[in-house]
Amino acid sequence: MKVLVIGGAGYIGGHVTLELLEAGHEVTVYDNLSSGRRENVYAGGRFVEGDILDTEGLGATMDEGWDGVVHLAAFKAAGASMTAPEKYARNNITGTINILNAMCSAGIKRIVFSSTAAVYGETEYLPVDEKHPTRPENFYGFTKLEAERLLSWYGRLKGLRYTALRYFNAAGYDLRGRVSGLERNPANLLPVIMEVAAGMRESLTIFGNDYPTKDGSGVRDYVHVTDLASAHVAALERMARLDESLVVNLGSEAGLSVLEIVEAVRRITGKAIPAKVEGRRAGDPARLVASSALAAEKLGWKAVHSDVDTLVSSSWNVYKR
Ligand code: UD1
Repeated sequence: MKVLVIGGAGYIGGHVTLELLEAGHEVTVYDNLSSGRRENVYAGGRFVEGDILDTEGLGATMDEGWDGVVHLAAFKAAGASMTAPEKYARNNITGTINILNAMCSAGIKRIVFSSTAAVYGETEYLPVDEKHPTRPENFYGFTKLEAERLLSWYGRLKGLRYTALRYFNAAGYDLRGRVSGLERNPANLLPVIMEVAAGMRESLTIFGNDYPTKDGSGVRDYVHVTDLASAHVAALERMARLDESLVVNLGSEAGLSVLEIVEAVRRITGKAIPAKVEGRRAGDPARLVASSALAAEKLGWKAVHSDVDTLVSSSWNVYKR
């Protein structure tokens, strides 16, 4: 298949591009490099520097004709989205509208969309399945849910077929180190601890140790980025076979606490990892764990690299350089 990966130079996009190339697809990356990196586009992928807010440039690339589009171009910091909603609205919502309109005018019918567990908000039960109510607690999650609703309407009105992948906590790096661009100004746990291990940051702040969890720290469902990437390939291949849209969770179905991750990082890197406990971060739930039964059923997908040792060691391979 000939695939356009929008946002393909980012952390997740770089891994998606790699998996698509590995599966034998022809890949072009469209990215403005605002947070992505040129070196994340693995050999064999073509690169076009462009912005999703530039409707002319986007339209020209879309008009080249594609069997499928993968859309990962978005801002993703939940905290920042609460102080700069305009920025998130413009990029994540207007940008998605631009992509959908460009697809319609170029006659392209299939899209895989990067969504998030943040669409659920405060959880009412665990593990979270796709029937769980969607009430995002942060503006970032709202922008992703709006994009899903747009996909649904374009599906009804324009015959678009989509797969929205609701990622839980993406982590890790390609096991062979082929995607090596570090994230810029990370706020997520794994890259922050890696920066501490690599001496790029003094210490880790642990947000809360009084949650009703196994050790008091926050529990999340960490899913290896290569597992996430393989789901994109499966989603595109499924849409080529079936005229059907889909919304699915992607998680490992396991819960790891902040302290468990810190311990694993100390053991695997041999570094001390100075850490201090501070108060809870606003909007953080105690536990978030996925049910990925639907992804297993519809995509034949399962996380296979998402154990804590693989998550940490594959990240450390990149950061220790
Ligand atoms: C958030 C979003 C998620 C989004 C992801 C990507 C929500 C509910 N979740 O995940 O949808 O895709 O960001 O940006 O909006 N922690 C620390 N110290 C740190 C950083 C994190 O203790 O310096 C803790 C957090 O309190 C949490 C865990 O580590 O318990 C994971 O945090 P983080 O990596 O930021 O991801 P989420 O907030 O779970």
